[in-house]
Amino acid sequence: MQRALTLYQTNIGKKAVLALTGFVLVGFVTGHMLGNMNAYLGEEALNGYAETLRSVPALLWTARIALLIAFPLHIYTAISLVRANRAARPQRYAKKEELVTSVAAKWMPYTGLLLLAFLLFHLAHLTFGWLPNFDPTNVYANFVSGFQNPVYSAFYIVGNLALGFHLFHGVWSMFQSLGASHPKYDGYRVDLAIFLSAIITIGNISFPIAVLAGVIQ
Ligand code: HEM
Repeated sequence: MQRALTLYQTNIGKKAVLALTGFVLVGFVTGHMLGNMNAYLGEEALNGYAETLRSVPALLWTARIALLIAFPLHIYTAISLVRANRAARPQRYAKKEELVTSVAAKWMPYTGLLLLAFLLFHLAHLTFGWLPNFDPTNVYANFVSGFQNPVYSAFYIVGNLALGFHLFHGVWSMFQSLGASHPKYDGYRVDLAIFLSAIITIGNISFPIAVLAGVIQ
């Protein structure tokens, strides 16, 4: 325990924690997007899927506890790394070379904050049911009525674009932080980051668009 805490105090330890918690979160958003695809199969399919998840409390609560640990730890570690980096270099670089991933990298704190705001809104909307017209027994009805509101849909689209940028840089740097990077395979690392972030973003953004277009109703 003492060793783990000492390692966490180093930048390398923090990066490893950021990568491991990021890995859990990437797994969650991938599974979540695929599960929500049931909406295209209709009301019974999406509600049946939600019901199946709830009928196995051990599985549901393992996933929830993993998320309740991974989300705050990821955010806290990211903030402490940004602070440590700023403290180590109080004066900005006069000229910095732009790399392929540097725009997404520079935006990480902002896309992360936007994502957090999105998540709070999303939980209030579809999990806690604090917004109007919530039916605790019908996930599909909440999904459709929520996205029929263009303001909610716009927020979901912006939130998921932020998720896409965040994932792109996150997946790319996750491998480096875990020591799995080699000049010979770095091209594949970029391809995987583009593939995963694009699939998840396009899948998620398709839901509000499909409801607004009347494809899901
Ligand atoms: C358009 C995209 C999305 C849709 C349509 C969607 C849909 C849903 C629905 C319907 C629920 C409630 C499930 C239920 O009560 O059985 C839910 C819960 C949740 N969503 Fe999403 N979601 C989206 C994107 C996201 C993203 C990007 C994240 C993470 C950054 C996320 C995180 C969560 C979490 C943490 C829960 C609560 C899970 C639990 O009950 O423990 N969602 N989502």
